[in-house]
Amino acid sequence: MSERPVLGIDIGGSGIKGAPVDLDVGDWATERIRIPTPAKSTPANVTKVVAEIVEHFADSIGDGPVGVTVPAVVMHGVTRSAANIDKSWIGFPIEQLLTDTLGREVVVVNDADAAGVCEVKYGSAKDHPGLVLVTTLGTGIGTALVHNGVLIPNAELGHIEIDGHDAETRASAGVKDRKGWSMNEWIPRIERYYQTLELLLWPDLIVVGGGISRDHEKFLPRLQLNTPIVPATFRNRAGIIGAARLAQDRLIAPDPLDTTRAPAPRK
Ligand code: BGC
Repeated sequence: MSERPVLGIDIGGSGIKGAPVDLDVGDWATERIRIPTPAKSTPANVTKVVAEIVEHFADSIGDGPVGVTVPAVVMHGVTRSAANIDKSWIGFPIEQLLTDTLGREVVVVNDADAAGVCEVKYGSAKDHPGLVLVTTLGTGIGTALVHNGVLIPNAELGHIEIDGHDAETRASAGVKDRKGWSMNEWIPRIERYYQTLELLLWPDLIVVGGGISRDHEKFLPRLQLNTPIVPATFRNRAGIIGAARLAQDRLIAPDPLDTTRAPAPRK
């Protein structure tokens, strides 16, 4: 039983959102707040906003850990890519900066990985055995691989090459919006994407998240796939919930490969 809620913060290209999460229930303990992402979205500027959100919820989270998602590959506390955020994130030791600034334990994780953990721990893939592929269809395509409940981090499968193109530039919900495609125009593209993934990975279950999964009835039943495919339960709430869960889990099992700072204190 977690006594206090754990704060989850989701850094996106346009907004930074945070809410304390009740980890027993697997949902926000109170309403989230959202602050626009600074126009110059450098690690330093974003860290200021994260600190503001932590301050806002300080009473309810006590001195507990904070989980933070970023739209980037995160290897042992260091961001290795940057999607929709300033390029200065590439190679930046963000976990260290946030830990030092906030004076508390911070775990930084890829946004889709956080969503994947949320769906497997609390959502539509809860306790699902075998390989679960969670996808978030938004501006880009985020993906998470979870095998028997264990996250295999940083699966950047939104970028697999299909017909000579980066898949997310052809099949994401963002591209659908930008091009003004109807469901009928988009469905063959997203179907080809999932068909390619199932041939490469043979997952036991595919979960579809992101805002567009609200309309799942309009496209999921029409996809010709061999793998069961289900809508996400938490959609855009999943990042915050999964990040909080990962922050709590890290207290129990620190990352042994994180060379950017001293090992996390065991609690
Ligand atoms: C990035 C991923 C991210 C996804 C969703 C992709 O473009 O490469 O790291 O998870 O977008 O934000």
